[in-house]
Amino acid sequence: MSEIEIPRPTSGDVLERILEDHRLFEDLLRLARRNDTDREAARHALAEVLVAHATAEEEKVYPTLRTDRAISAHEEEHGEEEHAEIIEALLEFLRARGTDPQKYDDTLEELATVVNHHSNEEEQTIINPARDDVSLEERERLGVAWLTRRNQLLEQGCASEEQVAAKLDEAVGEGVLAPEPAREEADEIKEKAKEKAKEVEEAAKKD
Ligand SMILES: [Fe+2]
Ligand SMILES: [Fe+2]
Ligand SMILES: [Fe+2]
Repeated sequence: MSEIEIPRPTSGDVLERILEDHRLFEDLLRLARRNDTDREAARHALAEVLVAHATAEEEKVYPTLRTDRAISAHEEEHGEEEHAEIIEALLEFLRARGTDPQKYDDTLEELATVVNHHSNEEEQTIINPARDDVSLEERERLGVAWLTRRNQLLEQGCASEEQVAAKLDEAVGEGVLAPEPAREEADEIKEKAKEKAKEVEEAAKKD
């Protein structure tokens, strides 16, 4: 497996640096989707940068934005919940190793869905208010703090299957995410609702 170099800037406006990573997520998701690339390298880079990015946001960015009143407790909690959903989808993707190409595609699609949803919502409800309410000086100070932590995690390696599984357990333990049986039940209900919706659509087409 060849390594994909993840950029490691050390300073700048935290909001711009976060947006750059969100673009990087999209690039790596696309790379992981292609069938003519080193998918293992793409998967590894994607996992590492997702975990480092989100962990450093929770530790260094969200709390300060809350203190500065740029975001509310609800927005912070929702962001953390979506990070946990990303961790959950990432774990499934990491576990879909090698054997079944359909499983690879399905778990990648689910991961892309939760990552894209979160990037979009974070940009609308966290980044935009912070741009209005937080001075550039503070954003640059936060840029150094966030990047230092992010790069340190990348350096250490933070997204092996075991590390991601431990992070998911932690999120469930802290009540950020519901326990597995409840999530499975919710997924089943969603799946059934989807089937029902399809039936209704098909029936309407025939009319
Ligand atoms: Fe982010
Ligand atoms: Fe985030
Ligand atoms: Fe959301």
